[in-house]
Amino acid sequence: MKKVLGIVASLRNVGNCEIMVKEIGRGITVPHELQLMRLPEFNLKYCNGCYRCLMAKRGCVLKDDLATILDAIASADAIILAVPTYFLAGPACLKTFVDRGISFYSRAEQLWGKPAVGIGIAGIEGKEGSTLLDIERFLTTLMAQNRSSRIVYGALPGEVVLNQANRSVAKELATALFAAPQPEQGLCCTCCGGKTFRFYPGNRVRCMLCSESGTLVTGGEQPAIEMQQSEQPFLADGTAALNHRDWLLGMLGRFKEQKESLAQVRAAYEDEVAWLRPSSE
Ligand SMILES: Cc1cc2nc3c(=O)[nH]c(=O)nc-3n(C[C@H](O)[C@H](O)[C@H](O)COP(=O)(O)O)c2cc1C
Repeated sequence: MKKVLGIVASLRNVGNCEIMVKEIGRGITVPHELQLMRLPEFNLKYCNGCYRCLMAKRGCVLKDDLATILDAIASADAIILAVPTYFLAGPACLKTFVDRGISFYSRAEQLWGKPAVGIGIAGIEGKEGSTLLDIERFLTTLMAQNRSSRIVYGALPGEVVLNQANRSVAKELATALFAAPQPEQGLCCTCCGGKTFRFYPGNRVRCMLCSESGTLVTGGEQPAIEMQQSEQPFLADGTAALNHRDWLLGMLGRFKEQKESLAQVRAAYEDEVAWLRPSSE
């Protein structure tokens, strides 16, 4: 019996995200049990950039629900992520989670390569903005294997399944979750599989998922993207993530060496200025 964890990134009760996770769950033919969690219900603090998780085997030092969420992901065999579009992007809870990603390295063995699918939902056709990229970033940071991620449209709660094409997408994702991984189709980053690029002069491109650079090659039957992977890929895959962890550890050593001279630089900026503080402080 496979354990499938459905991560719902919307607070709307029986909204389109929740419905799509359940619809995908119904389409899975492999014997499984589906457990859901609503990500924005969990208390997730902002990363404070202390880097202590790099050294601490137990992970992040902040006291919140991160470990509960990671435990659930680690004990699942597969993940379904459902994300609403808010102002042309996925909601903030996704990025708050991703920003804690340095602490995921200490659990790499439990998280690595977990099959996952993502579904992004937008109310207006074509107005999903970066939601698909945000899904890809969430799954890549988790070191999961993004088997397939799609966008569908539906505004009012429940509307998403009134469209037969959306039900078919749910079925396709259900099949992809436990099927053999398929090679990426069409224009994509050969480092990470990302499909979102920024264009620069001279046909240069940068992948917005792993930030590796490449060239757009036109003139053949189909345009193609040739990536030139840098020495320090960052989010391309699990190996890149662990290499990045080692690089950060090296930075920590560099910080220790330069701590005193940096303290002098910082001291010059310690003068008191007026800060607006939250009233609860
Ligand atoms: C604050 C807010 C912002 C939204 N922004 C967008 C948007 O930029 N583009 C879009 O297509 N839909 C937008 N929507 C519509 C939702 O993405 C859509 O209703 C979706 O089905 C919500 O999923 P849910 O029912 O699981 O909450 C927005 C909805 C809300 C509440």
